[in-house]
Amino acid sequence: MFTEFQEISTRDGSISLRSLFFQENFHSLEGALKETEIKFINPSNLKRFKDKSVNVLDICFGLGYNSASLFSNLIKQNSFLKWYALEIDNKPLEYSLRNKSFKKLWDQKVLKIFKSLAQNCKYKDQFFECDILWGDARKTIYSIPANIKFDLIYLDGFSPQKCPQIWSVEFLEKVTQRLNTNGYLITYSSSAAIRKTLRNFGLNIFNIKPNFVSKNLWSNGTIAINIIDEKISKSNLSFTKLSSMEEEHLLTKASIPYRDPTLNSNANDIIQKRVKEQLCSNLITPKEWRDKWGMTK
Ligand SMILES: C[S@@+](CC[C@H](N)C(=O)[O-])C[C@H]1O[C@@H](n2cnc3c(N)ncnc32)[C@H](O)[C@@H]1O
Repeated sequence: MFTEFQEISTRDGSISLRSLFFQENFHSLEGALKETEIKFINPSNLKRFKDKSVNVLDICFGLGYNSASLFSNLIKQNSFLKWYALEIDNKPLEYSLRNKSFKKLWDQKVLKIFKSLAQNCKYKDQFFECDILWGDARKTIYSIPANIKFDLIYLDGFSPQKCPQIWSVEFLEKVTQRLNTNGYLITYSSSAAIRKTLRNFGLNIFNIKPNFVSKNLWSNGTIAINIIDEKISKSNLSFTKLSSMEEEHLLTKASIPYRDPTLNSNANDIIQKRVKEQLCSNLITPKEWRDKWGMTK
């Protein structure tokens, strides 16, 4: 059911896929590699983990750009990595391993890890211990040993409107319970529903700064942190506190969350439930908010 894809060339020359099932691209057309660097790797501030241990959870591994880039950086700085990935479909990884232009981007060790994940679902050496758990992330997250908490969690599902299962209050609660005290949950999404849900769990929310600012491009995503290490977050130039405009976004109907109480609902049921809740709500509409701040879309 998830296995129909079209190859996409993105503007930085890196390849990506379009899912015909979800009717969405895996990456922005600006560039698959560029998106990984700007939205996931730069905000991770990986230098903190030079010669040290780091635990990472990659939710929605896909073609594996986020993790390939993570591995590449950590190999160079001798970090000790414990890594889990959750992914429902193994075809994108098989595709990466067959694709010459994808393989050209990474060094031999990264490709060795990817091959081992595809063949044995795991990889282990002196520095890295990696496990990929195939299946619906709403179920496989329970297979990660309870004592493991993550310094970095990458959440890279299709958009909430296309794949709300990955963005519900109930799933995000399970995910954030796995975040270390100073850990970062990083996503490309700046949806008000996701930000409000994460803030309601008591997390501090930051905006991943856009590469250039315009009225319609105000964010490259969101970082949620339990307890902020002021020294580190001040020196991280990739993210910033929410602006007044973004704070007001969280007071609109767009902030009404996606709900999946059984962690088993289908996309349509989650979306319909939210639409009903929005219709009954007295909050201002996203259009009123956009008009106030002079946005055209
Ligand atoms: C936007 S793509 C991920 C892009 C990826 N991070 C990369 O670098 O290529 C979304 C991925 O989510 C996966 N997915 C969709 N629903 C899922 C679910 N319920 N559990 C786990 N993975 C899921 C899809 O198979 C797809 O590979």
